[in-house]
Amino acid sequence: MVQTAIPSTTSGAATPGWPHRHLLDVDVLTVDEVVRCLDLAAEMRALRAAGERPDWLAGEVVGLAFAEPSTRTRVSFEIAAAALGAQVVELPIEASSVTKGESLADTLRTMELTGVGTIVLRHASSGAPYLATRSCGSRIMNAGDGTHAHPTQALLDALTLRDALGELSGRTVAIVGDIGHSRVARSNLHLLTALGASVRLCGPPDWTGGFRTWRGVSVHHRLEDALDGVDAVMALRVQLERRAGGGVPSLREYGRRWGLTEDRMALARPGAPLLHPGPTNEGVELTASLAASSRSLIGSQVENGVAVRMAVLSLLAA
Ligand code: NCD
Repeated sequence: MVQTAIPSTTSGAATPGWPHRHLLDVDVLTVDEVVRCLDLAAEMRALRAAGERPDWLAGEVVGLAFAEPSTRTRVSFEIAAAALGAQVVELPIEASSVTKGESLADTLRTMELTGVGTIVLRHASSGAPYLATRSCGSRIMNAGDGTHAHPTQALLDALTLRDALGELSGRTVAIVGDIGHSRVARSNLHLLTALGASVRLCGPPDWTGGFRTWRGVSVHHRLEDALDGVDAVMALRVQLERRAGGGVPSLREYGRRWGLTEDRMALARPGAPLLHPGPTNEGVELTASLAASSRSLIGSQVENGVAVRMAVLSLLAA
């Protein structure tokens, strides 16, 4: 696919020629499209830093439909949409007619009929955003579906890693934690390997099954093997809400064997950055001092989340 030019920040127009109506996962994006998205996010970040407000979504209505808890993703989508001049409406699904028996499809169709052009959907069921594209005519942005995908998280992680490491091709990234239940890990696996990076997955055997056949991915159970010489490390939250026990005797045991500490990070390449999508459980996945250390890019991930969501909202509306 031919990459079209990144829009001029002075054109005042939304970016032309984006071929995807929805953003359900990153697996459908070409490398050129990913690069275009990251470049546009970097441009959005610079515009925001300069205090400029590109009104590319003026007249658009963006609906936030979060059927699962969220802090970073929800707030950053809201700020991103508002920063582009869109009107933002919140649909707290728990408080909507879904609780009166209305289907999710009917609720989303109602949003479309009231004029919501883009629906940002988070849902506990894997695949819900795919169903949504068949139920209503609005653009659908997946803000995390079950254990399946979290495309904007993977894009903001890629931007954060690119800022820290430059080109990701030839780099090795360790992802440590509850891989099996992680939509963040799945989208990152697609994106990092597409960009030419290798991924080492690490966690208890029950938490890392089913990934050995992915190209560019290796599976480890000893943290020392996974961290040895890697260029970056991503810790994941233990998804207690999706996990009926099992895999490890206790969270304390998990922390003892797979929790990241400054000492353990010393196994990685000197200065290798640490990422975590948040929310963090300090003392389980990582220590508080590591989260606050100079290696930690957790704050940059949050900041980049706004820029990446500005970029994808603009691209979809093009
Ligand atoms: C992630 C999510 O909700 O999937 N958080 C996020 O979006 N920043 C990861 C998690 O909840 O562990």
